[in-house]
Amino acid sequence: MKVAIIGGTGKMGRWFTKFFLDEGMQVIVSGRNKEKLLKIKDELGVEIADNVNAVKSADRIFISVPMENFKEVVREIRSHIRPDQVVMDICSVKEFPVKVMHEHIETGITLGTHPMFGPRAENIQNQNFILTPTNNKERKFADDFKSWLEERKVNVSIMSPRKHDELMSAVLGLPHFIGIAICDTLLNCVDLVETRKAAGTSFKLLLTLAETVASQDPEFCASLQMNLPNVESVESFFCEKSIEWLNTIKRKDKSAFADKMRVVKAKLEKISV
Ligand SMILES: NC(=O)c1ccc[n+]([C@@H]2O[C@H](COP(=O)([O-])OP(=O)(O)OC[C@H]3O[C@@H](n4cnc5c(N)ncnc54)[C@H](OP(=O)(O)O)[C@@H]3O)[C@@H](O)[C@H]2O)c1
Repeated sequence: MKVAIIGGTGKMGRWFTKFFLDEGMQVIVSGRNKEKLLKIKDELGVEIADNVNAVKSADRIFISVPMENFKEVVREIRSHIRPDQVVMDICSVKEFPVKVMHEHIETGITLGTHPMFGPRAENIQNQNFILTPTNNKERKFADDFKSWLEERKVNVSIMSPRKHDELMSAVLGLPHFIGIAICDTLLNCVDLVETRKAAGTSFKLLLTLAETVASQDPEFCASLQMNLPNVESVESFFCEKSIEWLNTIKRKDKSAFADKMRVVKAKLEKISV
């Protein structure tokens, strides 16, 4: 089995290059930057090529490029896809890339996927992986790929691209939004060095979220916030809720705060059972 990783010189592409090599597969990597390609060839001993030649020589094609570059890549490779090939993307948003693949790739099987981990993941075990097939041909391949991943102890979910994007507004968009806002707040209103020394459990948790988000690639985070379809409404709702809680505090209404908190706790307990 030979896998072509388009964008294999990037963070996730490199991760999957190593992963497939460790699985004993042949990997061919393509990217735009010659220097980066020569570096990965040197370090991992993989074949390198331009996008078209990588596609021509592989059985499976894995597209690992930013969402902004996705359409140009699909348009470039479309006429070179054979009926026996599978093209998968790993974009963090699914409706847009799946639509682009359907519009442009007439031969072969396409499948939208989203590995729910970043390039710092040590291995694939116990990670979540989402597959978004939309027709019978894709569903059949997704079932096979699911079994292959599950043999490697991956937690696989299958859902529609739309459902995926709705969930991601809360799963990725909201924590990123809160994390960066916490960082911005702390850096501007407290002495973070002093505060860290006095940290208790909840502050440490808060800081872990803030620092994890702030350490990510700003281009990637910005792209997520701009491309997740209903992220704005989830985040606006969060802001409205924050104001609601803040107003209770401003009114010094202790019993209203405690009552609201009891309602939240009860709802949470009900769904935790
Ligand atoms: N980072 C995460 O935590 C994460 C997690 C899950 C999924 N994803 C998804 O994975 C994809 C890649 O993310 P990343 O973080 O790995 O981004 P990245 O580090 O910026 O890597 C993107 C790669 O795509 C290459 N590229 C861009 N346009 C290209 C083109 N026209 N032809 C060939 N290669 C091209 C770039 O090559 P050059 O550098 O040579 O320009 C770069 O190597 C994104 O769709 C993202 O949503 C990311």
